[in-house]
Amino acid sequence: MGHHHPYLLFSLFFLLLFSTATADDGATILKLANSLTPLPSGWSTKSSTTFCSWQGIRCDSSKSRVTSISLSKLSVSGTLPPEISTLSELQSLSVQGNQLSGDLPSLANLTKLQHIFLDFNNFTSIPPSFFQGLTGLQTFSVGNNVNLSPWQLPTDLAQCTSLTTLTANDCQLYGSIPDVFLSLPSLQNLRLSYNNLTGVLPPSFANSGIQNLWVNNQKFGLTGSVEVIGSMTQLSQVWLHMNRFTGPIPDLTECKTIFDLQLRDNQFTGIVPASLVSLPNLVNISLSNNKFQGPVPQFPPSVITVKNEGSNKYCAGPGVPCDALVMILLEIAGGFGYPSTLSDKWDGSDACGWPLITCDVGKKNIVAVNLAKQQFTGIISPSFAKLSSLRSLYLNENNLTGSIPDSLTKLPELETLDVSNNNLSGKIPEFPSSVKLITKPGNPFLGTDVDTGSSSGGTISGPSNGGSSAGSNKILGGVIAGIIVAVVIFIVVLSFVLYKYKKRHPKSGKELKWDGGKAFFKNVVSGGGNGYNVTIALDIQSNGGDNSKNIFEDGNYSVETRLAGTFGYLAPEYAATGRVTSKVDVFAFGVVLMEIITGRKAVDDTRPEEVAHLVTWFRRILTTKENVPKVIDESLNPDEETLATIYTVAELAGHCTARDPYQRPDMGHAVNVLAPLVQQWRPASQQEDLELGADLDTDLPETLRRWQTEEGISMVSDDTSLTQTRSSAPSMSSGFANTFTSNDCR
Ligand SMILES: *[C@@H]1O[C@H](CO)[C@@H](O)[C@H](O)[C@H]1NC(C)=O
Ligand SMILES: *[C@@H]1O[C@H](CO)[C@@H](O)[C@H](O)[C@H]1NC(C)=O
Ligand SMILES: *[C@@H]1O[C@H](CO)[C@@H](O)[C@H](O)[C@H]1NC(C)=O
Ligand SMILES: *[C@@H]1O[C@H](CO)[C@@H](O)[C@H](O)[C@H]1NC(C)=O
Ligand SMILES: *[C@@H]1O[C@H](CO)[C@@H](O)[C@H](O)[C@H]1NC(C)=O
Ligand SMILES: *[C@@H]1O[C@H](CO)[C@@H](O)[C@H](O)[C@H]1NC(C)=O
Repeated sequence: MGHHHPYLLFSLFFLLLFSTATADDGATILKLANSLTPLPSGWSTKSSTTFCSWQGIRCDSSKSRVTSISLSKLSVSGTLPPEISTLSELQSLSVQGNQLSGDLPSLANLTKLQHIFLDFNNFTSIPPSFFQGLTGLQTFSVGNNVNLSPWQLPTDLAQCTSLTTLTANDCQLYGSIPDVFLSLPSLQNLRLSYNNLTGVLPPSFANSGIQNLWVNNQKFGLTGSVEVIGSMTQLSQVWLHMNRFTGPIPDLTECKTIFDLQLRDNQFTGIVPASLVSLPNLVNISLSNNKFQGPVPQFPPSVITVKNEGSNKYCAGPGVPCDALVMILLEIAGGFGYPSTLSDKWDGSDACGWPLITCDVGKKNIVAVNLAKQQFTGIISPSFAKLSSLRSLYLNENNLTGSIPDSLTKLPELETLDVSNNNLSGKIPEFPSSVKLITKPGNPFLGTDVDTGSSSGGTISGPSNGGSSAGSNKILGGVIAGIIVAVVIFIVVLSFVLYKYKKRHPKSGKELKWDGGKAFFKNVVSGGGNGYNVTIALDIQSNGGDNSKNIFEDGNYSVETRLAGTFGYLAPEYAATGRVTSKVDVFAFGVVLMEIITGRKAVDDTRPEEVAHLVTWFRRILTTKENVPKVIDESLNPDEETLATIYTVAELAGHCTARDPYQRPDMGHAVNVLAPLVQQWRPASQQEDLELGADLDTDLPETLRRWQTEEGISMVSDDTSLTQTRSSAPSMSSGFANTFTSNDCR
């Protein structure tokens, strides 16, 4: 069997060529004809010679390949034969509204398939790999197949990147909604009503283009908060009713196109926000059978269907204001994210009759609030300061974050404040000596600059968002420091790549100048706490220049120019959100990494629209690892080892630019991923070090500090990220696969 005869191979090849050329889909259509009763008119079970002209069948111009099967509402029963999987030219399969049964065939890898309608039939199973490779799929409808054996939406759904409509009502779905919506940018209609879906709304719903969202009437019920809805700005019809959602209705200010919002029969709490009442296009709303608090919302006359009967925990009728004490306590509950336990306890309009509250004998003023051991998260609302007769306040043994509001020091009667065993942070306000303040045990960060409230405090919506804005400048400082460190680390890594390149091609005339990176570092840092202004200003200056120039081409390592463009590109992100979040900064960093890898600008108007936007384009590239080398800036000319590093950095970049800010890593993580690369690429000899201009035998943080001293620059605020880099780098050096988890940038 050693050598194959060349003639044999030759004839095999022609046989293959010949058989593909003559193959048509007739045999498959004949199989289909034999599995349907009654036979659609004009069809034959014996000969397929004319199958391209049979009713409901369409072929391509070769008259041999089927492009469309359309058998909707013909009252046929029978099955779909597995051979349908061979119809590789099939674009549309419509068999809805029949009595078809049995197993659904696999349609995996039919990349031309755009529309599949299977709804209103009696199919019994769907293959788990059903969505594999259906990259052209736009419409998938499988609803109302009540006899399907229970199935879950697979994560393979992420491969259907063209999907606009997914309809799967009442078809035995169970399990959670997979978090794949970053991969489905065209999705507009998601209809999953009347199933047994459980778990939370996936975070990747955030900023999606979904207009029509039906997840109502789940048997057990979806759970958790619906916060993400507030960022789904394309929504028009939202059916969330008959589930187990909790927490408040989010701020819906950005959801201007909602006309139909069904929230009834859940466990929502909190005050119905003004942003809901004033939705400009709202027509249909239902709120009944929840735990809403505060006054009954009053909708304008344009809202025609208000289903508002049924139990809630409103404190006054429509148009009637609630008691002032009740409103203060609700603001306080808002600080904790309106927990259900509190909504259950604080019912009705008489605050003095509520559990955990003690009033004076006249029942006019609250003198004690005991909220100890309630497992509350969130923040201490500054609204406590409105309870002017308060003598004791117990908040101990919860999981509260953020700081102790300064306003509490103004409570004239306060005697005892117990906040021990929480996770508070920030400065401890100065209370009068008459106040017994208990902060320990627990609260390890109280009295420090760490802000424990930045993550949980920021997501609470409701009337009392009073939080820790004082801390945000600190965070900003820390974030800037983090970006700088990470960028510098990456520059060091790249410098070394270039160094190796230069060594291999000594005559190329391309020269590495580390000074560029150093200058960039200086540029950013010298802005101090004002780093953003500096970098954005830089952009305005450099916009006139030629940004698209290959960064390494002129022998000058002009990172500044390139990065400046990026920061400019990011300025709209800041302007749009009106706030600086660390997640935006991580995004910024991701864009910088992408630019360095590809040698392209963040937005390149000279390129076709599909590829002009670097982040979108690069994230698409990232879905297949094999594509990455094709887009690497050619001047990097990576060897195998370098390529591996670039994969890691590319993946990090994708991770950092995740559409959902919650999926983006923090800067500390980015530093952790990059730091070991520096270790790995440490040059072998002292001489190489000198050529690089940075002494890599010293720890990187050490090097940074040395530069700072040299240049007389002081690093921005607490440089926790620097120390983190040093302490956590070794533990990460074993490899990077484990730094990314399942739903990263895919
Ligand atoms: C679809 O194609 C991919 C890649 O060629 C392959 O790995 C996968 O097994 C195929 N799926 C099915 C169900 O045939
Ligand atoms: C659907 O299929 C089930 C079992 O497969 C069968 O018992 C039932 O009669 C079918 N219903 C219809 C309407 O065909
Ligand atoms: C729904 O799903 C839950 C959790 O997966 C399961 O315990 C329950 O039995 C299911 N209910 C029905 C009616 O299928
Ligand atoms: C409002 O809801 C009712 C009842 O569900 C429905 O009949 C009506 O068509 C809806 N109106 C709009 C504009 O969606
Ligand atoms: C605080 O949260 C942690 C982690 O979620 C949990 O283990 C702990 O029990 C909570 N503590 C209290 C007092 O609720
Ligand atoms: C307390 O806050 C710190 C800082 O945000 C956090 O790392 C830690 O996990 C928190 N502890 C608990 C028990 O929630």
